[in-house]
Amino acid sequence: MKPRLVLFSGILILGLCMAALAGSKAGGAGDAAKGKETFEQCAVCHNVDTMDRKMGPSLKGLFKREKLSNGDKLTEESVRAKINTGGNGMPSYQDMLSDDEKNDLIAYLKTI
Ligand code: HEC
Repeated sequence: MKPRLVLFSGILILGLCMAALAGSKAGGAGDAAKGKETFEQCAVCHNVDTMDRKMGPSLKGLFKREKLSNGDKLTEESVRAKINTGGNGMPSYQDMLSDDEKNDLIAYLKTI
């Protein structure tokens, strides 16, 4: 009876670890649905469903582009840098949004 119990607890602990790992991965990758809500404050200045310019350029298909308009290669890092720094009429979100919110935003921007 005893060895079985040990085996059973072992499996249980392994399962918990895997669940924790999966949870933290999902957190790191960002949640597009939450990002969409966060984007409401960006939508004042950015279209995502047409190419029309508002205050800022349309972000439709952003991650399908090669470059940002400042010439930087379009990567998660360069988009994050633009969100953090702003400039030329774009506010800086360095301290206005948490890292999680920025992860969620980027996950959302990949879907548009
Ligand atoms: C007050 C208006 C305003 C708000 C609010 C705003 N932006 Fe911007 N955004 C701009 C302007 C203007 C530019 C163009 C700046 C430039 O050319 O350097 C821009 C540029 C960008 C770019 C670069 C686009 C490109 O093609 O290079 C990204 C990405 C971006 N914004 C994302 C966001 C996100 C995400 C938010 C919300 C957290 C946001 N913006 C909120 C005005 C705004």
